[in-house]
Amino acid sequence: MMASLTEEAETIGWYEQRLAVEPNAQARAIMANAQGEEFKHFGMDLEFLVHQKPKWRVALQDILFKEGDIVAHGEV
Ligand SMILES: [Fe+2]
Repeated sequence: MMASLTEEAETIGWYEQRLAVEPNAQARAIMANAQGEEFKHFGMDLEFLVHQKPKWRVALQDILFKEGDIVAHGEV
C-alpha cells in the first residue's frame, strides 16, 4: 500500500505538470477530473496506512488538517 501511495502521488504530479502546459480547455477539464480521482485514491491509501500503522497516526495527527504553521505542527 505504501507503493500505491507513492504511485498515486506521482500520478497527481504528472497531471499537475500536464495541466500547467495544456492550452486546450476541454483537455484541461478531462485531466483535472482524472487528477481528482487520483486525489481520492491517494487519500484512501493514506487513510488505510493510518489505520494499519499506529506510528503513522501518531506522526500525522498533529500535522494534517491544521491551520497555521505546518513546520511548527510537525515539531509538536
Ligand atoms: Fe489512482
